[in-house]
Amino acid sequence: KRNVIVAPSLLAANFLQLDREIEMINNSEAGWLHLDVMDGRFVPNISFGLPVISQVSKIVKNKVCDVHLMILEPEKYAEAFRDAGAHSLTVHAEACPHLHRNIQQIKDLGMKAGVALNPHTPLNVLENVINDLDLVLIMSVNPGFGGQKFIPHTLTKIRQLRKMIDDAGSSALIEIDGGVTVANAGEIVAAGTDVLVAGNTVFSAADPKAVISQLKKAGS
Ligand code: DX5
Ligand code: ZN
Repeated sequence: KRNVIVAPSLLAANFLQLDREIEMINNSEAGWLHLDVMDGRFVPNISFGLPVISQVSKIVKNKVCDVHLMILEPEKYAEAFRDAGAHSLTVHAEACPHLHRNIQQIKDLGMKAGVALNPHTPLNVLENVINDLDLVLIMSVNPGFGGQKFIPHTLTKIRQLRKMIDDAGSSALIEIDGGVTVANAGEIVAAGTDVLVAGNTVFSAADPKAVISQLKKAGS
């Protein structure tokens, strides 16, 4: 039995009613709010950035602002995201030739440090940093868009990562991002996941708060 953290992804929210969407999150069992930043270079899409996050983070109450950077050269912006209210900052291994340095920078800035891996990226790129990490984000779709289908091979990757983290004595959390539904949440958690990101599953639901509670119960 695992204490599951639910992290709704703001990418799927109604941007014309962000205040109401955040109020729903505030009143829900979500533990984190997941914020997807895309640059149109690392991924083939552009989302939102600093001005949106700095306003949103001011009205989020008692939730971790979990910023997922799908951008090249994330080191240039780490401090600005900290100042905008990010509590945890996740960078992509594929975008960081100096991953170890980038992780230290994030921690030095006082944030939790995460590394994200695309579906094709093997876990071994984490071997020499696993004890420095607060979070590993496994992409279960190719990053860039919400509403895609969960790639089944991810379950094997989660089990391997769980073992890698436990063997290393690392306290890193495992976060799964992309295609998470109420139907597949149980097996994703059983494989060893701590944090479930959910965009469309939450925000296109008739009762988003109820869906957040259902995802939270995936561990029990
Ligand atoms: C995809 C983003 C995800 C996305 C997930 O590139 O990193 O966080 O918002 O959306 P769903 O849950 O709809 O797959
Ligand atoms: Zn994300």
